[in-house]
Amino acid sequence: MAAAGKLVFAVNGERFEIAEVDPSTTLLEFLRTRSRFTGPKLGCGEGGCGACVVFLSKYDPISGQVNGSSVSSCLTLLCSINLCSVTTTEGLGNSKDGFHSIHQRFAGFHASQCGFCTPGMCMSLFSALNNADNTNRPEPPRGFSKIRKYEAEKAISGNLCRCTGFRPIADVCKSFAADVDLEDLGFNIFWEKPEDANVERLPPYNQHKVCTFPEFLKCEINSSMNTLKSSKDNGSLECQWYRPASFEELYELLNSSEFIESHVKMVVGNTMSGVYKEINLYDKYISLTGIPELSIIERNSKGFTLGAAVTISKAIEVLKERDGSTLNSEGELVFGKIAEHMDKVATPFVRNMASLGGNLIMAQRYQFPSDIATILLAAGSTVCLQMPSERLILSLEEFLEGPPYDDRTILISIHIPYWSSASNSSFGTSKYNIIFETYRAAPRPLGNAVSYLNSAFLAHVASDKFSGDIVLLKLHLAFGAYGTEHAIRARKVENFLVGKVLTVTVLIEAIKLLKEIIVPKEGTSHPRYRTSLAVAFLFKFFQPLTKDLAQVEKNNLHIPDVILSSKQVVEFSTENFPVGKPIKKVAAEIQASGEALYVDDIPSSKDCLYGAFIYSTQPFARIKGITFNSTLVSSKIVAYISINDIPEGGKNIGSSFTFDDEPLFADSLTEYSGQCLGIVVAETQRYANMAAKQAIVHYSTEGLEPPILSVEDAVRRSSFFDIPPSLYPAKVGDLARGMDEADHKILSAEVKLESEHYFYMETQTAFAIPDEDDCIVVYSSTQYPEGTQGVIAKCLGIPQHNVRVITRRVGGGFGGKATRSNPIATACALTAFKLRRPIKMYLDRSTDMVMVGGRHPMKVTYSVGFKSNGKITALYLNLLVNAGISEDYSPLIARAIITCLEKYNWGALAFDIKLCKTNLTSKSSMRAPGEVQGSYIAEAIIEHVASFLSLDVDVVRKRNLHTYESLKLFYGSSSGEAPEYTLPAIVDELFTSASYFNRLEMVLHFNSCNKWRKRGISWVPIVYEVEPLPTPGKVSILNDGSIVVEVGGVEIGQGLWTKVKQMAAFGLEQLWDEGRQHLLDRVRIIQADTLSLVQGGFTAGSTKSEASCQAVRLACSILVSRLKPLKQRLEEQMGSISWDTLITQANLQYVNLSASTYWVPQDTSSYLNYGAAISEVEIDVLTGATTILRADLTYDCGQSLSPAVDLGQIEGSFVQGIGFFVCEKLEENSDGLVTSDGTWTYKIPSVDTIPKNFNIRVMNSGHHKDRVLSSKASGEPPLLLAASVHSAIRKAIRSARADFSSTDPNNSSVSSFQFDPPATMTLVKELCGLDTVEKYLEALVPTTHGEV
Ligand SMILES: Cc1cc2nc3c(=O)[nH]c(=O)nc-3n(C[C@H](O)[C@H](O)[C@H](O)COP(=O)(O)OP(=O)(O)OC[C@H]3O[C@@H](n4cnc5c(N)ncnc54)[C@H](O)[C@@H]3O)c2cc1C
Ligand code: FES
Ligand code: FES
Repeated sequence: MAAAGKLVFAVNGERFEIAEVDPSTTLLEFLRTRSRFTGPKLGCGEGGCGACVVFLSKYDPISGQVNGSSVSSCLTLLCSINLCSVTTTEGLGNSKDGFHSIHQRFAGFHASQCGFCTPGMCMSLFSALNNADNTNRPEPPRGFSKIRKYEAEKAISGNLCRCTGFRPIADVCKSFAADVDLEDLGFNIFWEKPEDANVERLPPYNQHKVCTFPEFLKCEINSSMNTLKSSKDNGSLECQWYRPASFEELYELLNSSEFIESHVKMVVGNTMSGVYKEINLYDKYISLTGIPELSIIERNSKGFTLGAAVTISKAIEVLKERDGSTLNSEGELVFGKIAEHMDKVATPFVRNMASLGGNLIMAQRYQFPSDIATILLAAGSTVCLQMPSERLILSLEEFLEGPPYDDRTILISIHIPYWSSASNSSFGTSKYNIIFETYRAAPRPLGNAVSYLNSAFLAHVASDKFSGDIVLLKLHLAFGAYGTEHAIRARKVENFLVGKVLTVTVLIEAIKLLKEIIVPKEGTSHPRYRTSLAVAFLFKFFQPLTKDLAQVEKNNLHIPDVILSSKQVVEFSTENFPVGKPIKKVAAEIQASGEALYVDDIPSSKDCLYGAFIYSTQPFARIKGITFNSTLVSSKIVAYISINDIPEGGKNIGSSFTFDDEPLFADSLTEYSGQCLGIVVAETQRYANMAAKQAIVHYSTEGLEPPILSVEDAVRRSSFFDIPPSLYPAKVGDLARGMDEADHKILSAEVKLESEHYFYMETQTAFAIPDEDDCIVVYSSTQYPEGTQGVIAKCLGIPQHNVRVITRRVGGGFGGKATRSNPIATACALTAFKLRRPIKMYLDRSTDMVMVGGRHPMKVTYSVGFKSNGKITALYLNLLVNAGISEDYSPLIARAIITCLEKYNWGALAFDIKLCKTNLTSKSSMRAPGEVQGSYIAEAIIEHVASFLSLDVDVVRKRNLHTYESLKLFYGSSSGEAPEYTLPAIVDELFTSASYFNRLEMVLHFNSCNKWRKRGISWVPIVYEVEPLPTPGKVSILNDGSIVVEVGGVEIGQGLWTKVKQMAAFGLEQLWDEGRQHLLDRVRIIQADTLSLVQGGFTAGSTKSEASCQAVRLACSILVSRLKPLKQRLEEQMGSISWDTLITQANLQYVNLSASTYWVPQDTSSYLNYGAAISEVEIDVLTGATTILRADLTYDCGQSLSPAVDLGQIEGSFVQGIGFFVCEKLEENSDGLVTSDGTWTYKIPSVDTIPKNFNIRVMNSGHHKDRVLSSKASGEPPLLLAASVHSAIRKAIRSARADFSSTDPNNSSVSSFQFDPPATMTLVKELCGLDTVEKYLEALVPTTHGEV
């Protein structure tokens, strides 16, 4: 029974009854800490990533209907789900009851890598399928859902994945849509050739399979209906959660003495907690959802009235509904456009909870940059407010302009009027039309991105009876989110325009007025960009109405939506079967079903406490003390751990690499913003996180030098780290001679490259459990368990054999969990050691981004000499690499930069590289560390030379590609044999397969016909050197014939376990005739454990998979050598024998069935990887937004060990590269403190940013001597190929600049400009020109015969 004062709900059909709970507990927190379900993950805690998505169903006892939708469980309050049913990914299916077809298709389409995002993806897809299947669309063919492919693709628009590159996930989604051509779906295990594509081969979809609302709960609801009407019996006073059923009850509560003295929060969907982070607890919650007036939906001839608690999703649904009886088509147009715009707000799983009223209150009270306020303002909406003593109806404008309302003012409803055409004779016109448009420019088209500016315009226009000119009769021009207190109407512009015939001159005047109004307030980022957006949108709206302009640009302004398409050509060989077979990733299904365990999924043991870091916000200061205000949350602090808690014999060490150690805690002096000062310990992770944010750190900078925050500062103060001579790259040729040979020189040009954050979906985490006799077990999400073990032992002052570090799998690492995971594991171990209790630490997204560091920023100054034909003869570089506070990996970066830069033949190459020590977080290895910068620097120089010479950049690029001879000169033995240099062939083949030259022509043609959309197409080659490192492997055969394998490498999503498994089966195949496939089924790879397998090393550099495979292959050969003689003996006695018999006999005869090896590669093991990519982009000159229309990649994988895995690495890496080159901008404040510290401010690529047409060829270049079964690396090199996108954007910008240049388009300022990554939309627009519209219009004035 749903007992009064108790919370009753179901999760995956299981009943939960909670008598007492902190009302601020989120559903996610409950699921993860108090249920056995681990599917919902914590990725951001702010509604921005989708890792936590679950399906929430409600039952209406009156209609008997169940309605459900996806929600982000990190924002949903547990108390708000009373009598609801929650379905997590485990509830769809699991390893015991059978997987759901969603899980199976994720596995079969190779759509899960690290798997951390996968459960959330599955639930977003499930919700979209459920929505579609509940429509009254015709029944789909068997095996399909009613979903349409466009909807299917959008199903995951709010979910982030850092590994896969989204394409395979989109294919999974589309595989459920009946209107998809299955042949177009990507590489999968269900069919080998597209011609074989058939729904029968797919795991069958049954829309009725999952029961989302259990019968028992329906019964409980039916029987308790009468007792659930008011706050007193539905809310639980123990819970401090109230749900008044009327305004009387609400005000009664608010006026009660108990409430007046309390810290109360009123909520509907509670999504505001994702926007404005709570750093203290509330002691009482009031849910407004019980007041019926807040949920009304009324539609009549006057318009729509929507209750304030109506969710955005519901509003979209009703606004889209057609009702011919009451509304004419124009009225519907307004509602339809509002709905369309709302579809771009937040994400589906946020919109399903977020209320309209909550949004408007946030806009009114907290100046939130709302879309909804702007569009409703333009639509002339009104709001109805309930005050304690009266009810008010205000226009939305009055509401927004008023002083912030207190929380006793309740927004009841919003009325959106119905706009219709009518006769009007005052202007000599007969009838007017209504035009309504809305606009937004945001870092992502869909998927959680608040806009830089949004606007909505409503106009009544009529055509003059006599002249036919268009006259503006009425106008609402609303603008918001541009750094204003609230959305506004541009009244001056409206007044100026009304009654006028719209001509170019009138438009110019209107723009001038608008620019005086749209002025972002002080401190807003990109103020001029935002103003220019206002102009752009106004122009876009009025252009078709403006005399002499309407015909000029026709459809030119609209960028069409394109459905994703792709093609994969995967060349593989099964010569070494099962190595080389494109099998699905090990554990892919359990990753999808949420059963795969990550560190934070390990059930907390008895007495577990949780830790959170207090970090410095000053870069260089003395710490005078740390205090805490007395707040609800600070009363939850159980312990505080600091440098003073390091045991005797231990050391203040948090990380260590070959070159130096890094302290765990700042001592008396903090040396960078983000440095650990102490650890707050509490009973839950949330309390610990909140309490840590409450810490007040007292600093003093008296007598201290200013911090060093840039490479320029470092040079001034000679603050450098040494690069050991053995790691300093070698120069090539004679620079002076090369410069002498040059016909031209560019001297001292600059390229600047910024940092990038790892943004793994699983933030840094560890779980430490004290063991007997001064031992400790630490579960760490690390790429370097051996290093972690060493650091912990040093910090605690105990031998390494006392420290067991275990890593099962890592939810994305990208280098960020090589050394940067050590401080977390060490802090956790120290705290556990000190308190003698288990401790977990799971960094919140913001702390992770602030403390962990990232890619190395650098400044490059180069001088280059070249011939008139573009052949470069000499290059000199001055490189200032910002290493941050400690050496970490940095001394290795110099070589990495240079090896990838050497992809071109520079003639002579010399450089001066300095590693700058600065007061910033330590920069560390991030996927392709140094290599991506080196490769890009090379491209920037090539571009510069080409534009200097006014030559086609393709000519210069090709002219400087290596011959095999020059390759050898630059790379020595790594270059291998001549036939292994496949790059020239790759490039030629790619030009043909991607129709490069044809498309070049088409792009030129497109650009000549379009002013506001420009395209660019470009290609880049890559050469990437890798070096496998020594790695151990151990293969053991158990009594029953099953095989267990341990390797030095860690599974971080890169498919290492899959390759190793294939190799183990291959390695043992001589022992089981015809049994390779069966052997594959018998192999299990187990977690890394530093006391079981030593010398594991670190998993980085793209080669750990092949090194682990090679170690396993050697271990297998030891077993083969032990078992083969026995097998032969037995066969002589018994004839052919089975595997099981062989192993049983081996056991009986005491054969050692476990073999360990330590593979040490030869000195000559480094080798080169090659690939090339062509990318085509379209930029919107008005907003700076880039759409990647197409990308074609060819990558030489040698003979792939596991082609589906390598394909995933290539695609995922490329998309991560798009992040670096296009959208990820890591910002810091003037103290070097990272400010882009979450999903709101840091934008990794999402499904709507990947290439619309994405084609990959995984090339098999056959046999390679000295490689592991002829394979090559795939994890990092393809990231560099994304430079092609940047290069294509550069071309598109160039075309725009040529169009809008007031000087000669061939002027060098048009073609040559500083364009450093990332090519964010603000930068693209700036380079195209912030005043293109004005320039364009002004240029038209003299040509319009005085009529303007
Ligand atoms: C990840 C994410 C992305 C987003 N992106 C966008 C975007 O692109 N564009 C955009 O416009 N918005 C965006 N939003 C904002 C979102 O629309 C709001 O968070 C949401 O609408 C708030 O509704 P809620 O029901 O969750 O409010 P709650 O969080 O429950 O409440 C918000 C505030 O309003 C008060 N309140 C709520 N209802 C009432 C009422 N009826 N009367 C008086 N006070 C009330 C509450 O007390 C609280 O102070 C985004 C939000 C998130 C989390
Ligand atoms: S964890 Fe909830 S959306 Fe990211
Ligand atoms: S598989 Fe999506 S985040 Fe790793």
